[in-house]
Amino acid sequence: MYNEFQPTLIFDFGSQIAYNFSTAGVAELEDAADSKSAGGNSVRVRLPPPALKLMCGIVGYIGNKDVDSVILVGLEKLEYRGYDSAGLAAIHNGRLVVRKKAGRIKDLYSLVNGLVFNGHVGVGHTRWATHGRVNDINAHPHTDCKDQIAVAHNGIIENFKELREELEREGHKFLSETDSEVIPHLIEEYYSGSLIDAILKTVKRLKGSFALVVVSSLEPDKLIGVRMESPLIVGIGKGEMLLSSDIPAILSHTKDVIPLENGEIVIITKDSHKIVDFEGNPIEKSPRRIEWTEDMISKGDYPHFMLKEIHEQPEVLERNLKTYIRGDEFTLLKDFNLRRLLLTKERIFIQASGTSLHAGLVGKYLLEKIAKIQTDVDYSSEFRYREPVLSKDTLIIAISQSGETADTLAGVRLAKENGLEVLSIVNVKESSIARESDYVIYINAGPEIGVASTKAYTAQILILLLLSLEVASLKGYLSDEDFRKEREELQQLPDIIRKVLKLEPKIKKVGQKYKEASNFLFLGRGINFPTALEGALKLKEISYIHAMGYAAGEMKHGPIALIDPDLPVVFINPKTSVYEKALNNLIEVSSRGGKIISIATENDKKMAEFSDTIFYIPEISEKLTPLVSIIPLQLLAYHIAVLRGCDVDKPRNLAKSVTVE
Ligand code: AGP
Repeated sequence: MYNEFQPTLIFDFGSQIAYNFSTAGVAELEDAADSKSAGGNSVRVRLPPPALKLMCGIVGYIGNKDVDSVILVGLEKLEYRGYDSAGLAAIHNGRLVVRKKAGRIKDLYSLVNGLVFNGHVGVGHTRWATHGRVNDINAHPHTDCKDQIAVAHNGIIENFKELREELEREGHKFLSETDSEVIPHLIEEYYSGSLIDAILKTVKRLKGSFALVVVSSLEPDKLIGVRMESPLIVGIGKGEMLLSSDIPAILSHTKDVIPLENGEIVIITKDSHKIVDFEGNPIEKSPRRIEWTEDMISKGDYPHFMLKEIHEQPEVLERNLKTYIRGDEFTLLKDFNLRRLLLTKERIFIQASGTSLHAGLVGKYLLEKIAKIQTDVDYSSEFRYREPVLSKDTLIIAISQSGETADTLAGVRLAKENGLEVLSIVNVKESSIARESDYVIYINAGPEIGVASTKAYTAQILILLLLSLEVASLKGYLSDEDFRKEREELQQLPDIIRKVLKLEPKIKKVGQKYKEASNFLFLGRGINFPTALEGALKLKEISYIHAMGYAAGEMKHGPIALIDPDLPVVFINPKTSVYEKALNNLIEVSSRGGKIISIATENDKKMAEFSDTIFYIPEISEKLTPLVSIIPLQLLAYHIAVLRGCDVDKPRNLAKSVTVE
């Protein structure tokens, strides 16, 4: 019944949760990547429809267990996605009972306490508000006029206004301000004895993105799930079935899952599951087994996922070095067509967001200096709207940990719509960006649950470095001897990072000293200018301290006016080709009374002379410095945030994957 396969770490889209799939599965993915011939001149670009998706959480259950406890515990496993309200709907004595409220899941427990749901079928939801305020009535699930149909929805119904007006004309009464509430009323409108038929008619009316789970007292022996853009996974148990946005909510009940694709509907009962398309045609899909343990989605001995993930970086880098360097061979470009692309394209354009963009900026230095390919980088949110002039000899590279960032996905679609080829560097396999690219290189970082990206960042940079070195070797810019030396130094990288992680106690003390600062300035030059940007982003997004990353050489063009003893300045200046220049910048800052926290190469006395605090990293080649210099900055941001009592894994206003525009 199950595909027996050599496990390969694969990640669920949008949730950073891995499960083991067949290498065959991965091979399908690569085979699907067809290589279109590039040719022709500059193209103007048309804008694709916006991709809008949310990070709400859904858990559905039908079986013999207490449905409320399965749902509530499942929703708790999805808490890291961020939410502002929670609710559930379940069957009791043939009736639909709904409990929902703004606030945390623990508030929902008190609402559900003492209730008995003897129907053993229901659905729960954690809401991340878009349409409608954060209040009880806007929480999900939403119901029809007769409270016989309840729906939990993740996504955005773009045409909800016209649907609502139409339904109100038919006499439907709406209670909430949400887009989602049109769904149960549509199903009610179309219901004439068959729930699946009513849902087939309903989904044809919806525009936008939706993962839905429907429970109804009209047919209390089933649950129905629908997927269009927003993820939905079927858990296949014994005498029970589940539906969820993410693996963690399913894992303690079953390890056999079927991720639904866009345009698929699943009807589940306690003992069966049936998948159909939006026309009602049956679709055969075999379950896949997740060789995944609970502790891999738990914090283990760490107080936060972010700290666990910072410390996982050496093993993530080791995993990628083992995956992409086999003996003397680099294997990133084993795909002939991808190799052709990298060897023939005259220009690379990297588009990404946030931390992934910073990795792309490091990639620019690597690809230009090592592989000698002109490389441009832009924020996806800019790239998709500024009508870039892209000729067909340009390779678009999208970098995304989640593979679901709306702007980056739109950038991929923009490139594809205009005949350009796309390589994506992604963590989450089967994610939208992975699926829609011509080629994908996976960073195998494991589930990154902390909102602040850490291990994905260093893994992304490593992939870009390996790509640059492999292209340089194939193009003859690197002799076999040099290539061998590069490989040897790379093999030392994980232990170098382990050594730098040992600075943590000292970094924590420095965090204590600066935790009350209201501003920070991060300065770097050359390949470590992106390190300054990334260090600033880490600090600001989890400690809420204003932090600015800046090119050290630009200080005298304005920002040096900021320097005063109350402004901590983090200066990243390991030994590189711009070390002396950056040292001069540091002296300019120091001579104006700046408080300097430096990242420097071991035994660098000059840097020590002008720094109030110095974190040493081992002597390494310039190309590795961004991978190592960022480690102390990740830890500094983490400890300052903890000392300030911030919610490190779920910072305010942030979601792990920004799947809305
Ligand atoms: C980084 O710490 C942030 N969480 C955020 O900037 C993130 O890097 C950005 O949203 C891009 O996400 P992606 O890599 O999943 O596309």
